[in-house]
Amino acid sequence: MRRVLTYGTFDLLHYGHIELLRRARALGDYLIVALSTDEFNAGKGKSAYHNFEVRRKMLEAIRYVDLVIPELNWEQKADDVRRYEVDVVVMGSDWQADERFTAALQGLCELTFLPRTPGVSTSEIKSRLKLPEPDEV
Ligand code: CTP
Repeated sequence: MRRVLTYGTFDLLHYGHIELLRRARALGDYLIVALSTDEFNAGKGKSAYHNFEVRRKMLEAIRYVDLVIPELNWEQKADDVRRYEVDVVVMGSDWQADERFTAALQGLCELTFLPRTPGVSTSEIKSRLKLPEPDEV
């Protein structure tokens, strides 16, 4: 059993997320998603449209996802890998040079970066759907 782990917020679930999850699951037999909590995001100055429980339920409904766990902080990665006996951590290529992955996981498990699906992101969806403020009308 090869276990795969990925991290993210997965807000306003979109095609890029599904593609990331599909390709991550195809690298093994069991996919764990560590889903950023609302508190963790608030600490980064980010706020998701859907709260943690909604985002969790949506991920759990996806056939590629076997287990959703909370991502509470930047430091939990090594513990997650040991606790869930993870073989490979997978992230989109926007995380490629990030030492919070590379340094934290060195010698513990494989680390693979997949190319992002072009042309879609939660931030872009949010900005394109944003209603104009009254003084912009
Ligand atoms: N991802 C991807 N392709 C996209 C968008 C996201 O492969 N077009 C991947 C990210 O690289 C990450 C995972 O999906 O590994 C979760 O990304 P997340 O940050 O939740 O989604 P984004 O759409 O990137 O959100 P934002 O615009 O807020 O950064």
